[in-house]
Amino acid sequence: MPIQILPARLANQIAAGEVVERPASVVKEIVENSLDSGATSIEIDIEKGGHKRILIRDNGSGIPNEELALALSRHATSKITKLDDLEAICSLGFRGEALASISSVSRLSLSSKPREQSQAWQAHCEGRDMQVQINPVAHPDGTSVDVVDLFFNTPARRKFLRTEKTEFTHIDEVVRRIALSRFDVSFSLKHNGKLLRRYPAVKAQSTEQKRLGTICGKEFAEQSIALNSQYQQFELKGWLAQPEQAKSQGDFQYFYVNGRMMRDKLINHAVRQAFEGLIGADLHPAYVLFLTLEPNQVDVNVHPAKHEVRFHQARLVHDFIYRALTDSLNQYFEKGQQEPSLEVNVLPQMKPNHDYIQPLQRPTSEISVDERSPSYSGDGNKSYDSSSTLANKGKAEHLVNSSQVIKQSSKNYQQLMASSQPVTSSEQSVAMPGQWLQVSDKKILLNVGQNFYLLETMALHLSVMSKLYLDAMPVSQPLLMPISIKANADLLARAKSLYQPLLENSIEIGWTSNKVILRKVPAGLRQFRWVGCLEDILGCLEKETKKVRKHLLTCIVSNEEMTLVQTQELWQQFVHSSANLEHDIAQIGQSVNLDDWLNTYE
Ligand SMILES: Nc1ncnc2c1ncn2[C@@H]1O[C@H](COP(=O)(O)OP(=O)(O)OP(=O)(O)O)[C@@H](O)[C@H]1O
Ligand SMILES: [Mg+2]
Repeated sequence: MPIQILPARLANQIAAGEVVERPASVVKEIVENSLDSGATSIEIDIEKGGHKRILIRDNGSGIPNEELALALSRHATSKITKLDDLEAICSLGFRGEALASISSVSRLSLSSKPREQSQAWQAHCEGRDMQVQINPVAHPDGTSVDVVDLFFNTPARRKFLRTEKTEFTHIDEVVRRIALSRFDVSFSLKHNGKLLRRYPAVKAQSTEQKRLGTICGKEFAEQSIALNSQYQQFELKGWLAQPEQAKSQGDFQYFYVNGRMMRDKLINHAVRQAFEGLIGADLHPAYVLFLTLEPNQVDVNVHPAKHEVRFHQARLVHDFIYRALTDSLNQYFEKGQQEPSLEVNVLPQMKPNHDYIQPLQRPTSEISVDERSPSYSGDGNKSYDSSSTLANKGKAEHLVNSSQVIKQSSKNYQQLMASSQPVTSSEQSVAMPGQWLQVSDKKILLNVGQNFYLLETMALHLSVMSKLYLDAMPVSQPLLMPISIKANADLLARAKSLYQPLLENSIEIGWTSNKVILRKVPAGLRQFRWVGCLEDILGCLEKETKKVRKHLLTCIVSNEEMTLVQTQELWQQFVHSSANLEHDIAQIGQSVNLDDWLNTYE
């Protein structure tokens, strides 16, 4: 077959496949047009699940007589004029395709009267080459779109239509979604002449709850947790069902980005992460949330049905959603459900996470999960890699028991005394100033210059860790497996009071009414046995960030058993990071006279 240009109608019918999947998608497109036209009242009349007829009336700005035919042509839109406009879309439509697509697969009448026009006109279109006829008609200010016999000329599509009832259920859902996005607009929905839904507009914020109840049910409206958070130009408002009310299906999840309903992976992930540890793995949180951000921060032109968006600052958006939700969930467990307040929760400065998208794990029971944690590499924070090795090695290697340590140590010691060559457990350190010798499972003997020092391995560890924290605060990362411990009122109160200082130390906790949850930990320490020391950490009586850090690091190092190799690495790190080795050692170790010490050792 030679190459030919497709006739306009056929091209439109093919394109229609992207926009018009079923009656509900027709309703969505037409209602979105009404909203874009500034309508405050939209009436939807459906016959036979939309197979027979979809009639939608609005009181919006209307379409001038001379533009009626254009409105039905492809790529005809009043919403954008140039490429730049695509970068900051404020309307729901922008492609100029919806009406052309719908009219190519149905018998469509478009009647309209702008307020300034004395006469209303109607464009009707059906038949082979989409000839549009324009006639005067009686119509109030606003626009009506009447779609009859959907898919009458595309039998393949028609075949895919489900029963009247199923198609109407889809329409009902679309109307619910849209009605949730615009509380200031009234909607009514009729099926086969019967009024089934009426969502009257609400003007004041105080009456929003009522509208929410009409659309989502009284229970949700009365029991959900209200949320209103801000960060820079981002705003997240809406309602979350209490975690106890999580659903077995994910069908009660309404998320809007600048008024547009979305099903977006990044958003889902952020929400899911906030609920980690609070709901079972097989349950789904329920919510109605509205994210608002500058239009130039999102690209809406990425999906034919505009279900997905791309955020320019994806990490920040992800973290903002996560933080706003965890804040309000924490508050809920702290203070219980409260009357929705008009107060805005302004979030403090955030550091975007490095690996904000992690596959979420199945929540586990309240036990340690270290052995099962998959190993993780590439956490992107070089400054902490060495400590990650330290933390991980213990599991990978056979732990040397203390009698072996002593045996090995005294052998080393004898060699040390017999030769002037440095003797340590690794050749790597030959070039390093200072030597060390393990003399018990907790202590090492150091020789720096002429002096000898006795030092607790823990002190060395603590010093190395503190330096790492000082150099660059490690970013916090979600645990591969969430951890939670049972908590009584006392522990809960301590956890709450430590929330902020721990957060400033890259540890994020959360809570329910009887559990404390560990959500995020410093990068590189994800494999540490947190469950063993979470309670110790929460035992901190200090509130000041640095003091809490000291407590935190002490808890970590005292829960870590060091192998010879790890101690060697610690020592190397210590030496590398020290400008004045002897001085630094003297700070943390005890200077000893070798002969005296040897006497006590023997
Ligand atoms: N209810 C309405 N009130 C006023 N104008 C309307 C209405 N419906 C459609 N229009 C006009 O018709 C044009 C074409 O509508 P259509 O839905 O095909 O495209 P669009 O909304 O611009 O883009 P998209 O294809 O993304 O929906 C619109 O740009 C608008 O000017
Ligand atoms: Mg449109």
